[in-house]
Amino acid sequence: AEGDPAKGEKVFKKCAACHAVGESAKNKVGPQLNGVVGAPWGRIEGYKYSKNLVELSDGKVWDEDTLVVYLTKPKDLIPKGKMAFAGLRKEADRDNVIAYLAQFKED
Ligand code: HEM
Repeated sequence: AEGDPAKGEKVFKKCAACHAVGESAKNKVGPQLNGVVGAPWGRIEGYKYSKNLVELSDGKVWDEDTLVVYLTKPKDLIPKGKMAFAGLRKEADRDNVIAYLAQFKED
């Protein structure tokens, strides 16, 4: 479903402990997320992804459907990944945060 980026900005507060977006966003515990929507898994040079994400990444892209699965329950997609986040239970929260992220292009 179409998300609302303004609502997604509020949802992103749940991500912001570990992720930055926007101008000169830096990697934190997690990689910065500029341009992540539509990008290949593990796209940030110099960020140390989990072995499991790298192994599973082969040709995969963070399209909206894949992000929905990951953000519902990260361990369902990357069982030994290192994103220590339970997931977003509400479909609207997932759609909205993806719409928010889609505003930030790779810098
Ligand atoms: C990875 C999104 C919450 C830590 C990722 C990736 C995405 C993402 C898209 C993959 C990036 C890539 O391949 O370059 C989100 C969103 C969140 C969220 C939208 C909130 C709804 C969190 C939280 C933490 C976290 C709260 C820390 C407690 C990480 C880590 C990775 C990661 C460590 C790397 C995973 C790995 O290498 O296995 N996140 N995240 N994330 N995230 Fe999050």
